[in-house]
Amino acid sequence: MDVYKIKGGKRLQGTIRVSGAKNSAVALIPAAILADSPVTIAGLPEISDVYTLQALVEEIGGKVEMKDGTMTIDPTEIISMPLPNGNVKKLRASYYMMGAMLGKFKHAVIGLPGGCHLGPRPIDQHIKGFEALGAKVENEHGAIYLRADELYGAKIYLDVVSVGATINIMLAAVKAKGKTIIENAAKEPEIIDVATLLSNMGANIKGAGTNVIRIEGVETLHGTKHTIIPDRIETGTHMIMAAAIGDGVTIDNVIPLHVEAVTAKLREMGVKVEVGEEQIFIPKTEKLHAVDVKTLVYPGFPTDLQQPFGVLSTQAEGSSILTDTIYPARFKQIDELRRMNADGRVEGRSAIITGPTELQAATVEATDLRAGAALLIAGLLASGETEIHEIEHIERGYGDIINKLQNLGADINKVKVLTPSSISE
Ligand code: EPU
Repeated sequence: MDVYKIKGGKRLQGTIRVSGAKNSAVALIPAAILADSPVTIAGLPEISDVYTLQALVEEIGGKVEMKDGTMTIDPTEIISMPLPNGNVKKLRASYYMMGAMLGKFKHAVIGLPGGCHLGPRPIDQHIKGFEALGAKVENEHGAIYLRADELYGAKIYLDVVSVGATINIMLAAVKAKGKTIIENAAKEPEIIDVATLLSNMGANIKGAGTNVIRIEGVETLHGTKHTIIPDRIETGTHMIMAAAIGDGVTIDNVIPLHVEAVTAKLREMGVKVEVGEEQIFIPKTEKLHAVDVKTLVYPGFPTDLQQPFGVLSTQAEGSSILTDTIYPARFKQIDELRRMNADGRVEGRSAIITGPTELQAATVEATDLRAGAALLIAGLLASGETEIHEIEHIERGYGDIINKLQNLGADINKVKVLTPSSISE
């Protein structure tokens, strides 16, 4: 079993470069299969979610080449093969294969998606959208069957603002006959990124990034070249890390507008954030004050940074209340942080964290991706050697993280340890 071992307390200094956005990547790759000729996507993060999607596209006959973060997807020989099991279960975003395959072939069979366990994560709004476009949708033995004779544009009002549903409906609607209007659409930068790729493939999409998206269906889509946006959640993670244990850290390859809510919260806490065009510099932080955080849809404070932010709160003077309105059960890291001496508890949809506390090393479990990011930061702060288990969650979303942190001076290594079961084998 691989684990991360971190000897905490080393101050971090230097430059860290942000990779391409995971949550864009996982939608751009399925989007590419809608084309009739090769699509090239540059700047992809080297993370397991990207490789799993590559495997899924290959399973259905796509030819994929990936080199130095640039992926070329040749969709000319893709067939409408059912994907009820296997790789689809490894990540949440395999649900984008539903929209993409429905849009391309008018039918698809996709196993219900896996991904991080953050409490209930329904996909009813995706299904409502597919049905509005004319598909019959059935759940049979854990796989979703989507069938349509033809897809027709429709007006779809999303009952909850959902990134996944907005993108999935766009994927299914770009080749539907007539006009689709998505109302109460999500406005995340990843949606604009996917709409940009689809538009460059020949789709007709207006309003991506606002809460009303209008799509005029087209008959065919063609190949193109696209460069992905930088990952705003990775950016925010590094900003939090730099505020926690940095002696001057530059975060490079950033779109500062995408992390404005994080910048504002950090400043409210007492962190100096110097914003450049494509870089953010965080000098050594002297004193942190407790602040309350409420996660909201974009451009609000992202749910994906609530868990790492909680670690910073352990270093701040006073009690912070972190409320997650998107995933009210996204607090599995709190128990792990308590093992490390943090003073935190969960009440309803909030975590209450009181500081400042000196964190102490422990053996902890990355229960999900962003809990893992939180534990990485905690391990960097803690005295002693922290061991993080279940690191495959972290590697789903943070590419090359060990190298990146070592370059800042962190004492972190990925090592193999024997588990009780591997000893008995
Ligand atoms: N929701 C529904 N019905 C639906 C869809 C969503 O009730 O049909 C609810 C969800 O339960 C949640 C809220 O709506 O309470 C928002 O969910 P959304 O659909 O926006 O989330 P998602 O598309 O499944 C993406 C990211 C998540 C990120 C959320 C929120 C991907 C692959 N995942 O999930 O990323 O937390 O948006 O911004 O894009 C992560 O990166 O660690 C991660 C979990």
